[in-house]
Amino acid sequence: MDTLKYLEYIVNEIHSTVVATVDDNGLPVTCAIDMMDYDEQGLYFLTAKGKKFYDRLMSRGYLSLTGMKGEDTMSCVAVSFGGKVREIGKERLERLFEKNPYMNEIYPNAASRAALTVFQIYEGNGEWFDLSKKPIERAGFTLGGAEDVKQGYYVTDKCIGCKLCYSKCPQKCIDISTKPVVIRQNNCLHCGNCFTICPARAIVKCGY
Ligand SMILES: Cc1cc2nc3c(=O)[nH]c(=O)nc-3n(C[C@H](O)[C@H](O)[C@H](O)COP(=O)(O)O)c2cc1C
Ligand code: SF4
Ligand code: SF4
Repeated sequence: MDTLKYLEYIVNEIHSTVVATVDDNGLPVTCAIDMMDYDEQGLYFLTAKGKKFYDRLMSRGYLSLTGMKGEDTMSCVAVSFGGKVREIGKERLERLFEKNPYMNEIYPNAASRAALTVFQIYEGNGEWFDLSKKPIERAGFTLGGAEDVKQGYYVTDKCIGCKLCYSKCPQKCIDISTKPVVIRQNNCLHCGNCFTICPARAIVKCGY
């Protein structure tokens, strides 16, 4: 899937997400926020200027979000996204109300919408994590030219082919038919069992 498909999934299939921002004390604060629209330039949501959430967005210019869809854990897809956010004001407000008519119940007329403003998430990194698949499926995506940071565990040439990593891998997502063995990144939990057990220290951990 390309980035647009992930954004579409967030808006049309998940819609209500949990968004984390950071307050003036450097502590994380979460709140429920609807992702109301998307395009090649990013994801769009609205908020009211009087909210603390607005202040946190303006002071940091960054957020992280997670949304989930599914009946229970083992049928669930989660999409997470972290990135830069900017206020674009009222320019897209009407469109967001047209696409999300339930908003008329919350802010019924023009006067009540005075405080509303639209934000765009325009650059960042996301992750798709699907627990309904066996083995699990994950994928990364980027928006707005953000650097695609390599995440997870990778096997180097130091591998001696002992296959101990495979014996401890909960998803059996290590291809042991070659040396060095190869971790199938789109099925890996990032649990680190392989890294810990490898006698040759052949596995490296990448990412943040
Ligand atoms: C399902 C759901 C969706 C919500 N969507 C939004 C939204 O899109 N924009 C918004 O400003 N508040 C939304 N809210 C309300 C915020 O979560 C709430 O105002 C929160 O308290 C804001 O954080 P703050 O109190 O730190 O400002 C939503 C609440 C729920 C339950
Ligand atoms: S445990 Fe280490 S050395 Fe053994 S197969 Fe796995 S990566 Fe290679
Ligand atoms: S990190 Fe865990 S799931 Fe991924 S390859 Fe290593 S043992 Fe398997």
